[in-house]
Amino acid sequence: MTGKMGSLEMGNPEEVPKQGFSTYTMVLVCVAVAAVVGVACILGTYYLHPAYGNTGDNNLIPVTTVEPPQRDRINCIPDVEIDHEHICMQRGCTWQSTDEHGAPFCYFPENYGGYNVVSEQTFGWGLRLRMERAASRPTFFGDEILTLTVDIEMQTENRLHFKIYDPSNSRFEVPVEMPTRSAEKAENPNYDITYTNNPFTLKIIRKSTGEVLWDTSIGALIFEDQFLTISTRLPSKNIYGLGESEHHSFRHDMNWITWGLFSRDQPPSYKGNLYGVHPFYMCVENDANAHGVLLLNSNAQDYTLQPTPALTYHTIGGVLDFYMFLGPNPESVVSQYTEAIGRPMLPPYWSLGYQLCRYGYGNLSNVQEVVESMRRYQIPHDVQYGDIDYMHRQLDFTIHPTNYVGLGDWVDSLKPEGTRYIIILDPAISANETAEYYPTYQRGVDNEVFIEDENGAIQFGKVWPDYPDVTDIDTSLPWEEQVEKYRAYAAFPDFRKQSAQEWWANEVSMFHDKVAFDGIWIDMNEPASFVHGSVDGCPDNKYDNPPFMPEIWGPTIYDKTICMNSVQQVTYDMKDIHYNMHSLYGWSQTEPTLQAAENATGERSLVISRSTFPSSGKHTGHWLGDNASIWPHLYYSIIGMLEFNLFGIPYIGADICGFFDDTTEDLCRRWHQVGAFYPYARNHNGLGYMPQHPAHFGEEFALEVRDVLLIRYRLLPYLYTLFYHAHTKGSTVVRPMLHEFTSDSNTWDIDRQFLWGPALLISPVLEPETTSVKAYFPVARWYDYYTGMELSHDMLAVGGGVTLDAPLDYINLHVRGGCIIPTQTPDNSTMFSRRNEFGLIIALDDEMEASGDLFWDDGDSIGTIMNEQYYMFHYTFSNDMLTADIAHSYGNLMENLFMDHMMIYGLMEEPTRIVVTDYDTVTEISTFTFDQETMALNVNGINHAMDTGFTLKIM
Ligand code: GLC
Repeated sequence: MTGKMGSLEMGNPEEVPKQGFSTYTMVLVCVAVAAVVGVACILGTYYLHPAYGNTGDNNLIPVTTVEPPQRDRINCIPDVEIDHEHICMQRGCTWQSTDEHGAPFCYFPENYGGYNVVSEQTFGWGLRLRMERAASRPTFFGDEILTLTVDIEMQTENRLHFKIYDPSNSRFEVPVEMPTRSAEKAENPNYDITYTNNPFTLKIIRKSTGEVLWDTSIGALIFEDQFLTISTRLPSKNIYGLGESEHHSFRHDMNWITWGLFSRDQPPSYKGNLYGVHPFYMCVENDANAHGVLLLNSNAQDYTLQPTPALTYHTIGGVLDFYMFLGPNPESVVSQYTEAIGRPMLPPYWSLGYQLCRYGYGNLSNVQEVVESMRRYQIPHDVQYGDIDYMHRQLDFTIHPTNYVGLGDWVDSLKPEGTRYIIILDPAISANETAEYYPTYQRGVDNEVFIEDENGAIQFGKVWPDYPDVTDIDTSLPWEEQVEKYRAYAAFPDFRKQSAQEWWANEVSMFHDKVAFDGIWIDMNEPASFVHGSVDGCPDNKYDNPPFMPEIWGPTIYDKTICMNSVQQVTYDMKDIHYNMHSLYGWSQTEPTLQAAENATGERSLVISRSTFPSSGKHTGHWLGDNASIWPHLYYSIIGMLEFNLFGIPYIGADICGFFDDTTEDLCRRWHQVGAFYPYARNHNGLGYMPQHPAHFGEEFALEVRDVLLIRYRLLPYLYTLFYHAHTKGSTVVRPMLHEFTSDSNTWDIDRQFLWGPALLISPVLEPETTSVKAYFPVARWYDYYTGMELSHDMLAVGGGVTLDAPLDYINLHVRGGCIIPTQTPDNSTMFSRRNEFGLIIALDDEMEASGDLFWDDGDSIGTIMNEQYYMFHYTFSNDMLTADIAHSYGNLMENLFMDHMMIYGLMEEPTRIVVTDYDTVTEISTFTFDQETMALNVNGINHAMDTGFTLKIM
């Protein structure tokens, strides 16, 4: 509490508080407050907050004139420009200039207050507090919720749920399925909880270290209908995640930065709120423990990070619903997070292959030519796409009558060659089809599938399709005018309605009869519209004109989307406004689309969604949207990919070579080198830009791309196994080095290199005309992927930073000692590579040991894990012997598949004999070579059937 405490006495918000007031007044207030101040509590035991003491005398509230340090200031007028001192004063905040760049002039005085605890109740699951708004606190925007409930649920040893909500339960809550409350709280949680009563503040403490992970005694708790805020001190400045945004470093910049979150059709741009919303962060504490926090809220919101370090949330609806995950390491944080929101899907095997796409191929023969060029150079190619130009006038579920004649037959002909086809579908359904009847729309109307306005009429926006009679488009007109003149009305399916899900499944299935696609790419599902609100704008209402706008882009909240007061289904018997459901639109489309696709194809399918929300990873992958063909976007794609691994959506990649703008050969080559290590590896290009498919730049380039993709294909058994672990245990697939070497604080900032699982380090070139790369190697044995040569300890001793050669056609890859990576001889499609021989890369650690595993199923059936239709192999190397154990087997899945070769890195001497033992059969292997310079052993011709375990002994 500060000398500015006088502002807390403000009963009347109209009165401007005077700075400076008598001690007499202050004591009176203190006594009054003391009457309701209880002791601060800890669950189970009582804890005394030092700020309050424990008796009823005036010492309860220490009177001090200490100002918070400037970097601890929490902005009290986030809604207005810097010079509104009178508003600041009206809000009972302190106005003072600052010499700290970025710090606010207007800030909450200490113990500003918000709500006071009036009762508490313990339950089997934890604690419930009832709070009342402090009478002295001025209103910000009105419609204050006067009474609040805080539920503190100790769900598991490492998961804590705390929710601040309106006890009438009348407010919107996100319909994502989260763990239900059990009757009993966790017996021995790894956290302590303490709180103060007056005002209510909450602390969450890591028991083992005493580290305070959350502390809301900074800033204020305000809970009004359309303005909710809470702040917390953070235990360190190592904050990761929170998106979807274009971040310029993986570790957050804590220098007074505010980021908005609200789904938006917004190509990656610094500070823009992009397609998805993920209010989840991971924090690495200074002693290398890690925890994560989710704010489960879908309303337009922003958050500010400041050097205190502290975090402030503002949201304009819903409730303050937090989940904390105690880790204590980054991988366990992600695992606990995805345990709560749902594990990522297991993608079909073919979707790990290389994929090719562009907006504006123009016609089928252009696509055929591109595919043919892939064959000519034997470039791996598992998936070809159809963007909106395969459609007739960009109407979903149609085929262009002249440009794409024969699409269905051609797609059928691709399959035996091992190439699949994915179609794009946009949610908006054109509504003005007069001359030509558009049955998809009509069936939608008949089944009442579309989002309605407040009067129950279909809400119309505009997206791609033009009016039926438009033949010539004057592209010189301003965009808004073109939209007005040419674009047709479009209606937006409400995917939360059962009727819409059935209608969608039916449309998908009927179209599949015409074009046997394998997966569906769902785009524009923020939902995007080319008009703002509706074709008639939006009526005047408090949702389309909220009193507080978080730092999101656009002049209005309905910019580039539909009206906030339109009506949507939330659950089967509950509706709510788009204001609350907006950022959930893409999320709501995803599961029905996957079900529709799997229903149509009869196989495991793939959905790629542009808009995502926590738990989307259960059903979809994601690409990072409409990036540009510029070098910085190559770098940021690594950050985005690491973030989506935190968000539980590990099937992630960026458009290889860039979407907007013409790419360059140099950029596109380097981008393929990085893209070969995106979990989702798709080259996609925008309309009208120069071609960027691998063959476009000539033979040399094509062969370089082929070679780097062959490395990917060789490693696909490993990548697939990583997805198995993500799906079953919630580990990341691509991970930052800090996940594996958390105690090495040098890794906390590294985002130009990344790992596949624990074992493979990728150190790409991210700058033009550069043929070397600075790479960091944490303490471990590291081997060059290509040669097996160990990086010398002398090199690593120099601070761990090494400059590596990186010729134009080369990407640095290193294998970590202690790991075994399963491989398979590559081919130009996974259909073929899956039939080839397996191998192992065995990289020894200091103990001359290594381990790894391999998951294998048929790659395209649904539910193979649940139905136990898979093989699981465990590989361990120790005492000069590799043991291949089969931990799980299934039928004849491994028929005709063989373990053929192994590379063993890091041996001390040349072996003389190699012997394979399988039960009683002992086979001597003579086909091996040893390189004296690299000390790498290459064993070939093992030829051991995959469906039995064995040992391989080197002597
Ligand atoms: C959007 C998508 C982009 C797609 C285009 C045309 O901009 O983000 O990937 O190519 O629409 O469908």
